[in-house]
Amino acid sequence: MKTGMTIAVLGATGMVGSRVINEASARGHQVTALSRKPTDRSPGNPNVTPLAVDANDPHAVREALAGSASHGAADAVVLTVRTTPVDEDFLVGTTRTVLDIAARLGIRVLVVGGAGALRSPGDRGLLVADDPTYVPADIKAVAAAGIAQLRTCQSHTDADYVYLSPPALLEPGVRTGRYRRGTDTLLISADGRSWISAEDLSVAVLDELETPGPDRLVTVVHHDERPSA
Ligand SMILES: NC(=O)c1ccc[n+]([C@@H]2O[C@H](COP(=O)([O-])OP(=O)(O)OC[C@H]3O[C@@H](n4cnc5c(N)ncnc54)[C@H](OP(=O)(O)O)[C@@H]3O)[C@@H](O)[C@H]2O)c1
Repeated sequence: MKTGMTIAVLGATGMVGSRVINEASARGHQVTALSRKPTDRSPGNPNVTPLAVDANDPHAVREALAGSASHGAADAVVLTVRTTPVDEDFLVGTTRTVLDIAARLGIRVLVVGGAGALRSPGDRGLLVADDPTYVPADIKAVAAAGIAQLRTCQSHTDADYVYLSPPALLEPGVRTGRYRRGTDTLLISADGRSWISAEDLSVAVLDELETPGPDRLVTVVHHDERPSA
């Protein structure tokens, strides 16, 4: 298990990014918290260094990942950016930029992507993005952007990446420390819903960074059952 890493989080102020930072710093990692408008959500926490970086600026992204006098070189980067409305060109361009830079610097990339790129549990021949049970017409463009982002990762020949697809519903909630993990197919929780809290997704992010698995596409879902004593 990898300990004492420096983890860069691009999208640090977001719903997911802020929770990944909490989880990483609680586990004793150093975090470089990157976004355009950084806010120090944990003032005085020596493990977190907020930095202003625009993902559209490859030079700034490279500087942030390579390290400087103010922060260490990253061992891993978590890409968890989002725009509203969705901007597929931005998402694909940023993903390619991060993969290119990380490959040159020898840094692992964890992309927090979309559920749409997964196979539908009812019909493995259908992507979730094309299954109206999970993706109504009004968010189809978001799901399509997630698929384009995954294809960008898959077509990158040099990068060491893992693409983490959330379940259908990802929202702020409670950290249970438990989740169920899968690969390319959307998972359903015991309560019949496909969901996880952003806190537990962040547990999965850190588990994957500390103990890298063999899969490049992974997904997780809320897990109710307590482990037997
Ligand atoms: N069920 C699902 O599939 C599902 C559900 C929810 C989220 N997600 C995915 O999870 C990921 C994170 O989503 P979220 O809900 O945490 O997003 P969010 O709360 O909207 O946060 C987005 C983050 O991206 C940053 N950002 C946006 N443009 C940027 C730029 N040009 N340069 C640098 N940073 C930029 C924002 O910071 P600044 O504005 O300060 O730059 C912010 O920190 C996304 O990939 C999203 O698609 C998936």
